[in-house]
Amino acid sequence: MISKATIDIVFETARVEEVIGDFVQLKRAGSNFKGLSPFSDERSPSFMVSPAKGIWKDFSSGKGGNAVAFLMEHSHFTYPEAIRFLAKKYNIEIEETEQTDEEKINTDVRESMYLVSEFAKDYFHNTLLHSEEGKAIGLSYFKERGFTSETIKKFALGYSPEVWDAFTKEALGKGYKLEFLESTGLTIPKDDRPFDRFKGRVMFPIQSMSGRILGFGGRILGNDKKAAKYLNSPESDIYHKSKVLYGIFQAKQSIAKQNNCYLVEGYTDVIQFNQAGIENVVASSGTALTPDQIRLINRLTKNITVLFDGDAAGLRASIRGIDLILEEGMNVKVCAFPDGEDPDSFAKKTPYEELVKYLDENSKDFIQFKASLLMKDAKNDPIKKADLIRDMVVSISKIPDRIQREIYIQECSRIMDISEQVLVSTLAQLVQKDVADIGKKQKQEQKDKAFDVVKNNAPIQVEKIDILYGLERKIIEILLLYGNKTEEFEDVLLKTNSDGEIENVIEKKQYKVFQRIYLSLQEDEVELANPLFKDIFNNLINYYLQTENFSIEHYLMHLQPEFAQEVTDILMEDERVALHNWEGQSIFPKTKNDSISQYVSETILTLRWYLVDRIIEEIKNSISSEPDSDNIEHLSMAMDYYKLINSFSKKLGRVMSRYN
Ligand code: CTP
Ligand code: MN
Repeated sequence: MISKATIDIVFETARVEEVIGDFVQLKRAGSNFKGLSPFSDERSPSFMVSPAKGIWKDFSSGKGGNAVAFLMEHSHFTYPEAIRFLAKKYNIEIEETEQTDEEKINTDVRESMYLVSEFAKDYFHNTLLHSEEGKAIGLSYFKERGFTSETIKKFALGYSPEVWDAFTKEALGKGYKLEFLESTGLTIPKDDRPFDRFKGRVMFPIQSMSGRILGFGGRILGNDKKAAKYLNSPESDIYHKSKVLYGIFQAKQSIAKQNNCYLVEGYTDVIQFNQAGIENVVASSGTALTPDQIRLINRLTKNITVLFDGDAAGLRASIRGIDLILEEGMNVKVCAFPDGEDPDSFAKKTPYEELVKYLDENSKDFIQFKASLLMKDAKNDPIKKADLIRDMVVSISKIPDRIQREIYIQECSRIMDISEQVLVSTLAQLVQKDVADIGKKQKQEQKDKAFDVVKNNAPIQVEKIDILYGLERKIIEILLLYGNKTEEFEDVLLKTNSDGEIENVIEKKQYKVFQRIYLSLQEDEVELANPLFKDIFNNLINYYLQTENFSIEHYLMHLQPEFAQEVTDILMEDERVALHNWEGQSIFPKTKNDSISQYVSETILTLRWYLVDRIIEEIKNSISSEPDSDNIEHLSMAMDYYKLINSFSKKLGRVMSRYN
């Protein structure tokens, strides 16, 4: 683990505009920078970076956060990967936290295995490009397949010489330990003559999402039927076949940008697609997708298009694996190639525009595709048809989203010419079975419930929620911008004067803004209604309570990812105005700095006023609907609330015509 101290240094050193500037062309705009959003195709810039606040905001997608959040969002690093990346950029030495001896050994082992693999990649690549044998055999093979030099470089393709220990000898000579050559599988142990696993093969390095070398695939050159066409690195501490997708490093940005991922079978399919200009493609390396692999894609997009070779047998076999993708809540399309073609051969001979057109026109929704395909087999065979219906419903039952399930039921009913009712009841049986899996069930219920709420309440509540939403958002904004400022506030106290009468006394007192807000809301026992605001509120208050010298920069450094979008939205509001050059049109109100204490008091009072107003509204409703003796009580309650409202109004210094 990276130590907290290192993380702090990284955050303090990293300049958000420098980090982002490596990926996005930024232009100065006042005290900020702006550029084209890297998350969407756009012509006019909606991407803003604020060096002063240390944050960025993409107004086209709503995303935002600090430098680390940018790397996680843009380059799909994990948190530690982002920290390591920044440490490297700024030459910060990474201090690892105290590890147990065993942890230390494991980390060292893996680190050494990565180093050996990195070396091997370079060795094979250089051998391919610069050795006589590599050029004559390996390079000419790749050229024959139509790979350009650029492509060969992009995928760091290589060649392992036709000598039994060429690589092992070279690596040992460079000081790499035999232990790690063997544990990565690059070298096969044999008494005192360890030898190369990949002798005489062209090499495909397999990379992680962040670009580390995990293992290799090596292809034989000739058509020797006895030897396996591909040899792959064995499972090891760094290479887990089921968690890796070939090409993901080169594809990740394009997958996110296109919001779709093409899935193919082979190394060469990925490479040929890339060369053809389609980069959002990965390979499962000849096996069915695993849940881990699907989740890898799920980090980047919800949409996956499975590309099939053009032979019918393979197609029917592969279809079975796809339910797993549906289960992860992804939208699956499938696209088959003409008979005898695989993505590699098809992309090689098809110009870019035509290829894109072919993919667009032939990508079909998986459920529809499966139904049509299987219907061909079952048309005149009732038993087969019954199987098929069950088969289809199994696929549909894997879809977590209820609405989507219903749409598919309708579709299938049409394609298979069978009543929706039958499909629904079959589905109900299957879903019932799934109920055994409690985790899944709860997940589903939550989703269904959320849907019901939207359906039943949305039209009535909208306006009121908007006002409340605005007020609560303002509270968060104040906390973020002014929470730690000390301001003078007025307290109204009830005191007994010398004549024994009770009277209002106004007392001025210093508070920190966050204390004032916290205490006022506590007094009314008010909690923010919006769950996200409530979480941010509690988080901010805790932060203020725990941190002597709160600074917004520091808070943003440690901002929780789930808050990033809203918080950056609030903080960058002004920048959005600058972006559209609205300043000149004076749409925005005077600066809040005028009198912070007044602004805070106004906001809190308005919120309290609003909440009390809602109560009065409720009382009024109950009076008109049930004319009985309770009315008197209700009326007097309402009067009390009216008084309260009046006092708020006075304090707010404005007249609320509704109550006069
Ligand atoms: N594969 C493997 N071992 C084999 C055969 C195949 O690991 N003996 C994996 C490889 O990842 C390969 C994928 O399955 O890329 C698909 O196999 P195939 O279609 O036969 O290979 P291609 O990638 O099409 O290779 P080529 O075009 O070079 O024949
Ligand atoms: Mn092939």
